[in-house]
Parts: sequence; structure tokens; C-alpha cells
Amino acid sequence: MSLSLPERDQAVVWHPFTQMQTAPLPIPIVRAEGAVLYAEDGRTFIDAISSWWVNLHGHAHPYIAEKVSEQLRTLEHVIFAGFTHRPAVELAERLLPILPAGQAKVFYSDNGSTAVEVALKMAFQYWHNIGQPRTRIIALEDAYHGDTFGAMAVGARSAFSAPFAPFLFDVDFIPAPVPGREEEALAKLEALLDENVAALIVEPLVQGAGGMNMYSPEILNELIRAARRQGALIITDEVMTGFGRTGKLFASLYLEERPDLMALSKGITGGTMALGVTTCTQAIYEAFLSDDKFKTLFHGHSFTANPLACTAALASLDLTLSPETAANLERIAARHRAFADSIQGHPVVRNVRQRGTILAFNLQTGEATSYFNNIRDVAYNFLLDRGVLMRPLGNVLYLLPPYCITDEQLGYVYGQVEALLRELKVKN
Ligand SMILES: Cc1ncc(COP(=O)(O)O)c(C=O)c1O
Repeated sequence: MSLSLPERDQAVVWHPFTQMQTAPLPIPIVRAEGAVLYAEDGRTFIDAISSWWVNLHGHAHPYIAEKVSEQLRTLEHVIFAGFTHRPAVELAERLLPILPAGQAKVFYSDNGSTAVEVALKMAFQYWHNIGQPRTRIIALEDAYHGDTFGAMAVGARSAFSAPFAPFLFDVDFIPAPVPGREEEALAKLEALLDENVAALIVEPLVQGAGGMNMYSPEILNELIRAARRQGALIITDEVMTGFGRTGKLFASLYLEERPDLMALSKGITGGTMALGVTTCTQAIYEAFLSDDKFKTLFHGHSFTANPLACTAALASLDLTLSPETAANLERIAARHRAFADSIQGHPVVRNVRQRGTILAFNLQTGEATSYFNNIRDVAYNFLLDRGVLMRPLGNVLYLLPPYCITDEQLGYVYGQVEALLRELKVKN
């Protein structure tokens, strides 16, 4: 008897963030269109989390597909040291003017973690190259910046990083400045700042994997100003918040202060291909210019600036900058607001929060808020059984849909979340 695809998968594949001993067999998806995933067995799922926050304009978007397939027939890849190509140059030319003022150069890599690694290396080497080495980074508690070692080091120390704790470089953490903790965060930052702090790294306004924690532009401006007074560089990790997710093109555009370095990925290609980008100011770039070869940024990946990925990003940018997307961002934010109001007083709902197309709240279950909260599996399976893909972060439930999600689909998702809340209320 021939094995099913999930059985074949189980025999040979190891999945991310998955306890392979206890996880149910994965669901084979055969195609996807707009916000909907189609499973092999005929089930459909509304992708309410944009497939790990990458998808912007819907799956298998015909415009992006057309552009990528044209590029695939022309130039699929070329080494990016000593060579260049139109998609990489054009993408950098088009990205820089829409970023917060001051970003001057684009460095390509493959994903969000590498975009962060590059930002950290640029920050440390900047200080090294100008002859004033600084060795410390300040980051936020509950931060998530990726799974490579440098990115893990600047992320929250948790069960996820515990086996690697001895190998992570020391980082100073301050509380995420969520409402009620702003003063504490600022005071801790001021106490930590000195001339050895190379950079402050933040996920601006929304901490994603740490629990969709949201905080205001005003307090981030204050933190940045304090860090700047001691000369620290500012890194905004917009891997999740970039490309319209928070209502503006970039979360950093809510700020009066400007970052020195930015990390971008995920939505950059509309969710089509893997691509990472690190951008920096002219001042940082110039610290690497020298007759001395040792001042070079010695970093690169085989697939740096892959032409297909850059082409997907250019096509996605066309769609992102269209009036239709602007209208969708407003439409989703307004629908989220109305839904947020409707669940505010629900007995199992706490801390409803929203920024642009991201809506999040905590499920009150008697257990502490945590990624390992048992309610996670209950909620995940309840929603999946009803055709909605959401991946609660422990007891934090959130919506982060593709911008093309229709009102009808959104209404259906809200309806299933309401059904979940009714079920949990009865059980509590
Ligand atoms: C803010 C942030 N930075 C970095 C990353 C890492 O990105 P990747 O998974 O592409 O390595 C993520 C991924 O969730 C993220 O949310």
C-alpha cells in the first residue's frame, strides 16, 4: 500500500518549531489562492496569519508569479560579489526613498535572521572601524529577532534559547515599554547606557513572537533619544512590521527619531521568496570605506540578492504602493477596531490591542501568559477544524491576515473566534 504524503513526510522531514514525537501529521496543501489554502483532502483554510507573517497580497499572486517567471527565464542567479543585476539595483533604488529618512545603502541576505545578523555585525564593526570599539547591545525583554546565534543573543532568553545559553553573547535587556512599563523601561535604559553600548535594537511598536506586545511611538522616541545621547546606534528590526503591516509602510515611520540600521524580510517579497535586507546610513557605510582591506564588511551568502527574490520584491512593491493596498490596510484596520470593541468586555478576553492590520488579545485561562500555555492547542485546533489558520502564541490570540482578505472572509474568521470565546467561557 502506498504511503500518504504526510506519512512520507514523517519518514524523512524535520519541521520547524515542532516536537516531532507528539505533533500530529502535517496537513498537505496542494495550492493556495488569495487568503485561502487548499488541502489535499478538500479542506480549505483561511490563512489568518499570512503564513508566518510573510504574505501580503494573497497566495500565488498572478502579477508576482508572472514577473518571477519572466525573470526565471532571463537570469535566475549570479554571484553578487563583482557582479550586479537590474533587479537588485532597482529594488535598492526603490526601497531607500520609502524608508525613514537617512537610510542610504542596501545590503542583501536571505531571511530575517540574517538581516538582523548583518545589522549587528555592521554596528559592532562600525565602532571597531572608527577606532572606538563598543561591545554591548541593549535589547528589549520578550524580543524575537530570529534563530541564528547573533539574532538569538539579542532575543529574549527563554526555553527556546536555553540549550544555547552558554554560547550567546551577553546582552543587556530592558523591559518592553508596553503601557504601564514605559517609565521603568526608560529608567533601566538610562542606567545601562554608557560609552560601551554599540546599539539599541528594537522591534518597533509591535513585538511579534514575544506575544504581539504593543507600545507607543512616543516612548520609543524617548528611548531612542536617550540611547543617542550616549552615541548608541539604533537598529529597527522591521522584519515583521515592514511593508504596511502596522498601517504605515514601516513602523519606524510613526517615529520622529530615525533608525541608523534597519532589518527587513518576510513581506518584502509579498511572501513569495526568501529575501533579507539590511539598510544603513551613509555614516555607517563610510566607516567601512578604506584602503585597509581589514575594514571590509566580510559577510555574504551564496544567494545574496537572488534576482528572482529581488524581482518578487519589486513586483510586491508595485502592489504594496497601489491605492488598492492603501484602501485594504484601512479597511482591515477599521474592521479589526470594530471587532476589538465587540470583544473588549468578554470574560475570557484581556488586553485587546491593535496596530494597523495586527489585532491581538490574551485569553484569560487561569494559567499565566506564556507560549506554553495549554490553551494554545485547544484554540489552534478549534479554529483549524473550522477552516481558520491561526497560531496562537501561547494564550495570545492574534490576527495578521494578507491584505487581500475579503470582508466576508474576515467576518468568518471573527465569527469563529467568537465561537471559540463562547466555548472557553462555558468551560471556565
Ligand atoms: C521581528 C523579527 N525579526 C526576525 C525574524 C526572523 O526572521 P526569519 O524567520 O526569516 O529568519 C522574525 C521572524 O519571525 C521576526 O518576527
